[in-house]
Amino acid sequence: MYKTYYVTTPIYYVNDLPHIGTAYTTVVADVLARYHRLKGEEVFFLTGTDEHGQHVARAAERNGVTPQEWADRMVVHFTEVWERLNISNDFFIRTTSPRHAEVARRFIQKLYDKGDIYLDTYEGWYCVPDESFWLPSQLADGKCPQCGREVELVQEENYFFRLSAYADRLLAHIESHPEFVQPDMRRNEVISFIKQGLTDQSISRKTITWGIPLPFDESQVMYVWFDALLNYISAIDYGVDEERFNAIWPADVHLIGKEILRFHAIIWPAMLMAAGLPLPRQVFAHGWLTVEGEKMSKSKGNAISPHVLIDEYGVDAYRYYFLREFSFGYDGNFSRENMTGRYNADLANALGNMVSRVLAMVERYRGGEVPESGKEEEAADRALRESAGRVLGEVDGAMEALAFNEALQAIWNYLGAVNRYVDETAAWDLAKDPDMAGRLDTVLYNQVEAVRLTAILVLPFMPRTGEGIWKRLGFTDSIHLHHLPAAGAWGLFPPGQKVSKGEPLFPRMEKGK
Ligand code: MSP
Repeated sequence: MYKTYYVTTPIYYVNDLPHIGTAYTTVVADVLARYHRLKGEEVFFLTGTDEHGQHVARAAERNGVTPQEWADRMVVHFTEVWERLNISNDFFIRTTSPRHAEVARRFIQKLYDKGDIYLDTYEGWYCVPDESFWLPSQLADGKCPQCGREVELVQEENYFFRLSAYADRLLAHIESHPEFVQPDMRRNEVISFIKQGLTDQSISRKTITWGIPLPFDESQVMYVWFDALLNYISAIDYGVDEERFNAIWPADVHLIGKEILRFHAIIWPAMLMAAGLPLPRQVFAHGWLTVEGEKMSKSKGNAISPHVLIDEYGVDAYRYYFLREFSFGYDGNFSRENMTGRYNADLANALGNMVSRVLAMVERYRGGEVPESGKEEEAADRALRESAGRVLGEVDGAMEALAFNEALQAIWNYLGAVNRYVDETAAWDLAKDPDMAGRLDTVLYNQVEAVRLTAILVLPFMPRTGEGIWKRLGFTDSIHLHHLPAAGAWGLFPPGQKVSKGEPLFPRMEKGK
């Protein structure tokens, strides 16, 4: 029995609307979750919202509502956009939910009872937008070293977590588990950060009221990051339903942006160690998206809502573009010209046209009924079959390495091979010669089989497209019932089944659009 594959996104602050940067992690996580489901694995895919913290409280104040009202209003923007993006999360965690607060309070009590939490005076700087504490020596020109914004002086009695006590164990773990923090450049960053020495971490706030009260001192609330990180275990019933928790934990991968690496690769594992819990298998930090070469920001007003791009290109083109264009782990730039180019070349042409051409030929030459393939295999047939065999392995390797663009590249290489097969075998010529009827049957069968495999391969990336191709192929069951590797075997298409070309999958887009 496999353990449940557990993938998470960061939980998003509700101070702002989702944009294509925040949506990036969620789309990636969805593709990963869907790929593992396609392999027949049990999957738990978690996303949600981070609703405490000063940042959120201030946004609420500016808008003249309570933080809870604000969170309730903002969370809808997230759930709506995830629905439109066809995000298949199994649960949506909100940190203001009673279950989360209960688990968080129990967790912190456990660490307190163990002696890992103590009271001391904190004196230092706080970046409200990043919700992070900084020592004077860490500031960059008096500003937040992370985001460059103003920091505020904090001087109060806080509870501290003995982070320093876990430094050695943590370093040993990271060094002996190269896969734990990825990509390698991020792993090196974390290692050198720990080697500089870890200081204990303030994990409560006294002068703030918007947060989860500490069970051992109700006059203080939990530091928002301590609270937020616990979402990964509160969502799966830590301390509430041990059987369920143990079936899902540890997480297979926490997908995060590079700027929140230290929270996930240092503080979080130390918290887990303190609680005696196993560590996640991997923390993978991706890069940042810029828009037309610029950092997205409120002040520049250049943040793009996913809705705008979905309206223009459609949801599957959106999902495809961000996974194909960006090398996961690295920064990347979004541009409309580039997205339109990819849409036309990769989706309208290589994929959409190929599917319509193949199905149109079955309609034209065989009344839509897929013929039985002849027994004889010619060189072109073999090349196609072999290319189909190869792509499955290539995609699997790339997906295991979270190299999504490489997986898509492999699929598009395969589509190239299918297109070549269609051109070379020239069914339109065979159709003119009655003596070639048998050969035409084989060629049409192979093309349709190649399309069946295409539907399965693109499914995690473009679920609607995979489903749409499946339907055009005449299947009446759900494509989601078919799993790899079995469904990847060549020759499974049932002869005699009726296909139909249907509407174009990706109508070509005008240049200027
Ligand atoms: N609430 C914290 C995370 C807590 S997880 C226990 C948080 N929230 S956030 O809303 O500010 O950011 C969430 C994610 O969005 C981060 O992973 C961040 O990297 C990602 N992105 C925000 N802007 C982005 C880009 N421009 N590009 C890519 N990802 C970016 O941090």
